[in-house]
Amino acid sequence: RRIAILASGAGSNMEAIAQACEQRQIPAEVGLVICNVPKATVLTRAEQRRIPYCCIDHRQFDSREAFEEQMLKALRKASIDFVVLAGFMRILTDRFIGEYYGSLLNIHPSLLPKYPGLNTHQRALDAGDSECGATVHFVTPQLDAGPSIAQVRVNIDPQDDAVSLAAKVQEQEHRIYPLAISWCLEDKVVLRDGQVWKDDSTM
Ligand code: GRF
Repeated sequence: RRIAILASGAGSNMEAIAQACEQRQIPAEVGLVICNVPKATVLTRAEQRRIPYCCIDHRQFDSREAFEEQMLKALRKASIDFVVLAGFMRILTDRFIGEYYGSLLNIHPSLLPKYPGLNTHQRALDAGDSECGATVHFVTPQLDAGPSIAQVRVNIDPQDDAVSLAAKVQEQEHRIYPLAISWCLEDKVVLRDGQVWKDDSTM
């Protein structure tokens, strides 16, 4: 299998996934990294790892559809059959999602359905929550609302702020994202009729 990683920022999840592929924890090769932000660190990281990458700057396109068409072209050209979003900060249209339905994952830094959207760590702190975490889910047309594959919980300590919390959660993201991807590629988790079906080994 050939996976693509779509990212907009630092790329620490990209790095964790690429490493898991190299170590064969994920039975796939990272065939492409696509980034929509020209100077993002994820591009340097892909270069250092010798992973094929391209920058497709959304600001160069008149519409979301045209931007996505360019991404779809790049994905087809690289024979990608599985796509993961790792800090990709653009909303995708139903058309794009439909192309990779069931083979398109996202990681979100909250215990969904709590806190879809942005500033999740600060919102958990403001609410006085005792824990937060991250969720890997299939991408469906509803933002941050696709069926969950895996979730990880992290305790919120009294001295935590949004920065320390994000770091703690990210450390766990780097563990669960590769795991969830491997489950999907091994057909231990599948999306069928809008529902997630899981093999007992993933419980
Ligand atoms: C992660 O915290 C992820 O949960 C969120 O964006 C962040 C991306 O970080 N969607 P990185 O670029 O993988 O370091």
